[in-house]
Amino acid sequence: MKIVFATNNKHKIEEVKKILPPDIELLTLFDIGCEEDLPETGNTFEQNAAQKARYIHDKYGYDCFADDSGLEAEALHGRPGVYSARYAGTNSTSTANVTKLLSELNMEENRKAKFRTVIALMIGEETSYFEGEIKGEITLRERGSNGFGYDPVFVPEGFHVTFAEMAPELKNKISHRSIAVQKLAEFLTAEK
Ligand code: IMP
Repeated sequence: MKIVFATNNKHKIEEVKKILPPDIELLTLFDIGCEEDLPETGNTFEQNAAQKARYIHDKYGYDCFADDSGLEAEALHGRPGVYSARYAGTNSTSTANVTKLLSELNMEENRKAKFRTVIALMIGEETSYFEGEIKGEITLRERGSNGFGYDPVFVPEGFHVTFAEMAPELKNKISHRSIAVQKLAEFLTAEK
């Protein structure tokens, strides 16, 4: 079974390859010659993931899955959410995004947040969704140097360290993305 993962992010591809059944041939955007930016104009993770999967499916004719993730802070009514990558502006750096988040949560006692991932899978005309989330709290300052994005300010429930202070193997095991990918793998295994 050939299936496109609508990303060129090497870290994500490796993570997904480890979890998916080995007889599924995973193709990347590079592999199918897709060089353009994929549309991502939705207001929810579901909409963005589905939009990317449909684009590849319709234009390139492959079965495909795409993911969309972000951080939702409770006190900010779910922000940054779908805007996580560009919270401090278009092309903003992770440092700028984290600084903005910490300043918006300044003096805020409710530090609860969660990372969420939604994967949209298109096989033929049928779309299925797989979701993963991990709850935690936002720290008062950045801690740790592993990972990316908001990892230095997120402490997952049941831990005292941030994602950026954690061994990457452990983070990958418990992360929102890995929970969603696990569900996708179970579905694809059952489909075969
Ligand atoms: P994407 O949809 O997986 O590319 O994620 C969008 C944005 O959400 C990223 O650019 C990060 O800012 C944030 N994000 C998603 N997953 C993580 C994570 O595991 N750690 C830290 N930040 C993340």
